[in-house]
Amino acid sequence: MGREAPRCIGLLTAGGDCPGLNAAIRAVTRAAVSRYQMKVLGFLDGFRGLVENRFVELHSDSVSNVLTLGGTLLGTSRDKPHKMAMGGEILDMTAVAAENAARHQVDCLVCLGGGGTAKAAMRLHDKTGLDVVTLPKTIDNDVAETDVTFGYDTAVGIATEAIDRLHTTATSHHRMIVVETMGHRAGWLALGAGVAGGADVVLIPELPGRLEAVAEFLLERRRHGKRFSIIAVAEGAQLVDEPLPAEDTAEDDEATEVVEPTGIHVVHEPMASRIARRLQQMTGTEARVTSLGHVQRGGTPSAFDRLLCTRLGTAATRLIADGELNIMVAVKGPECLPVPLKKVAGVLKTVPLDHALIESARLVGTCLGDR
Ligand code: F6P
Repeated sequence: MGREAPRCIGLLTAGGDCPGLNAAIRAVTRAAVSRYQMKVLGFLDGFRGLVENRFVELHSDSVSNVLTLGGTLLGTSRDKPHKMAMGGEILDMTAVAAENAARHQVDCLVCLGGGGTAKAAMRLHDKTGLDVVTLPKTIDNDVAETDVTFGYDTAVGIATEAIDRLHTTATSHHRMIVVETMGHRAGWLALGAGVAGGADVVLIPELPGRLEAVAEFLLERRRHGKRFSIIAVAEGAQLVDEPLPAEDTAEDDEATEVVEPTGIHVVHEPMASRIARRLQQMTGTEARVTSLGHVQRGGTPSAFDRLLCTRLGTAATRLIADGELNIMVAVKGPECLPVPLKKVAGVLKTVPLDHALIESARLVGTCLGDR
């Protein structure tokens, strides 16, 4: 006898927020409630809400007017069940998370998050048997096995517009402006926005750059009468001639991630400031710094992300109804397909060095700092 179709799903958003989460929550909820008559419980503030048994029941009406809203109506956190700050201690709350899911007869937990969330969800399944499904979310676009993550398109748009605006002021003042995008260990965002915005230099973690080479490139530009420059830097960019500590706040780096007993992460100096200081010294051109930071994660999702979230959310619900569990729903060309969680969990998708965009960037004369 086959297993019964899931009747109740739990839903949570984990890790850093991004535009499109509400569109995905709406898609999962509407499809689950209207098409498959499932009950949907939204756990608040990521895995913490599951552990603390804080939730709301979601109906079709609860997700009216959220398609265009940034953030997540459920709230999020970087907490993971197996390593959770509780009352000043770090505790393994895996069993409690599973007990709460069982108490509500949750047949499958849908987790919207990046590679770290996929890893936490897989661990929860492996340790307790709770079935899970994840959707690939992050502005960093660094989740394995999917063409793209939701949130990335919106963030590239925001960062590109910022670079466009920085161009006019940099030109007027004959300055260099170093603009920092998010992207701790993957350079998709800096590369995408840098190329779209016509940045003169793009520095990403995958291609450790040499400040000497960048400074020489900037001086050469000046010799050709170009009196301004835009330098797009991923927050995790690495320099060969001046290795900088890779301070880590990213959600899916288990090895280096430090969970503070307070649950609060440390604030770091933007990478762009250090690079700007050195390039100003090396070239004698006045430098300014713009760190785009969380602006890239805020506000309304692009039409592309709304469509992507609607496709992913409805596909996830259909797959759950069909009994396809313990998977991530991936974007593969025009389709949304299941991928085993073990292929995704904690696996980082960095920019391949032979990626077409790297080649194109070089061909239009962008300095990537490595030559
Ligand atoms: O969600 C991933 C990310 O966007 C990284 O690029 C960045 O390092 C991190 O979030 C910052 O997150 P927060 O400061 O919100 O914890």
